[in-house]
Amino acid sequence: MDIKDFRGVMGNFITGVTVVTIPGDPPHGITVNSFTSVSLEPALISICLDHSSEADEKLKEGINDSYCVNILAADQRWIGEYFANMGEVEENPFEGENTKVLPTGSLYFEDSIAYIDCSLYDSIEEGDHTVYIGKVRDAGLLRPESEVLTYFRGKWGSI
Ligand SMILES: Cc1cc2nc3c(=O)[nH]c(=O)nc-3n(C[C@H](O)[C@H](O)[C@H](O)COP(=O)(O)O)c2cc1C
Repeated sequence: MDIKDFRGVMGNFITGVTVVTIPGDPPHGITVNSFTSVSLEPALISICLDHSSEADEKLKEGINDSYCVNILAADQRWIGEYFANMGEVEENPFEGENTKVLPTGSLYFEDSIAYIDCSLYDSIEEGDHTVYIGKVRDAGLLRPESEVLTYFRGKWGSI
């Protein structure tokens, strides 16, 4: 199977877009759409991080044992672009945007649709990615009425 065909097929699965923040000085952010819920009892979620990403390095080092998933609103597209290192946005959202620090040390953007704060529960290396299972410590809806950011066939959209 051609890897390009695989990517092309997967791009037809519409997703929301999240920014995962990892505590630190400075904190780190990465744009992620591999986020999904895993279990209700206990409450578990997962994200998959590319081995070539800085975020993967930070969670693998074991220095950070928590991360926070921010579900992005349509008007936060620029934040998604910034943390995907797309190179068009210069303003660092950690400096310009309102954030709140949680007891785990993670932080969320106050203008996100919602946040899910997790402590690291398990990690599974598979191929060129690592699946990071997070145990949900806290979650909140911040802007339930706002349009959400989507990603579909390589393009940003909103619902
Ligand atoms: C919509 C979208 C979704 C993405 N989802 C993921 C993902 O689930 N996992 C991942 O490792 N990279 C994902 N990326 C790519 C990373 O955001 C990108 O490689 C980033 O530059 C890595 O940041 P870092 O190396 O500073 O941690 C996604 C990019 C976009 C635009």
